[in-house]
Amino acid sequence: MKYITLATAAAFAGGLTLAAPLAAQEVCAVEGDYYDLDAAGVDAFYDCMSDRMIEGYTTEGNEIAAVYRGWNATAERAAVPGPHGDRFLLTFANDVAAEQYLKFEEGDFEMPVGSVLVKESIAVREGTGRVGPLFIMTKVDDAPDNDNWLYSAVQPNGKDMKISQSFCSDCHVGFDSQDSMGYPLEEVRLTAN
Ligand code: HEC
Repeated sequence: MKYITLATAAAFAGGLTLAAPLAAQEVCAVEGDYYDLDAAGVDAFYDCMSDRMIEGYTTEGNEIAAVYRGWNATAERAAVPGPHGDRFLLTFANDVAAEQYLKFEEGDFEMPVGSVLVKESIAVREGTGRVGPLFIMTKVDDAPDNDNWLYSAVQPNGKDMKISQSFCSDCHVGFDSQDSMGYPLEEVRLTAN
């Protein structure tokens, strides 16, 4: 199926409508196989999930969560590449990172120190969208074991996620001709203007 529906929770009634948080009012449902959603379907699904992500990630005052939506989107829309838990992913690059990142270069180069890449993730469970972690990579000058990337993540409830650098890095260093970056699926990549 190629569309999504917004279902209003049955338990939701009466004068509570305006006072209740968005998340209580509706779910973002995907019918059929979410790998088969067309572009318009993905856009509608993302629109439905968009505010929930920001509300969740910023709950505990995470500083990157508060600003990354103003950064440079790197893809036309969220896409499901498989790794990162079969989630829809959309990556944003800060201004330090954007020019180089948006070349999607392969070869012998290194991202500038201060580059920050942030990836939103949305899971689908039983046909319903769930906010996934916000994944972050920051280019530093003192982490040679990880190609000078510092990995972190914010949970959907806004708390820092406990992660091990090697868990993230062991997979990312496999992208050795891309300075450890995975890059979005080719068909959704945006290039710099
Ligand atoms: C099993 C392999 C794997 C693991 C483990 C993994 N990643 Fe990734 N990561 C990828 C792939 C593949 C992409 C590109 C996905 C896409 O956007 O389509 C990616 C993309 C990213 C990006 C966007 C920048 C880029 O590389 O293009 C960030 C940020 C990121 N990952 C952070 C993390 C963090 C933090 C962890 C650990 C909690 C982690 N990753 C663990 C495979 C992995």
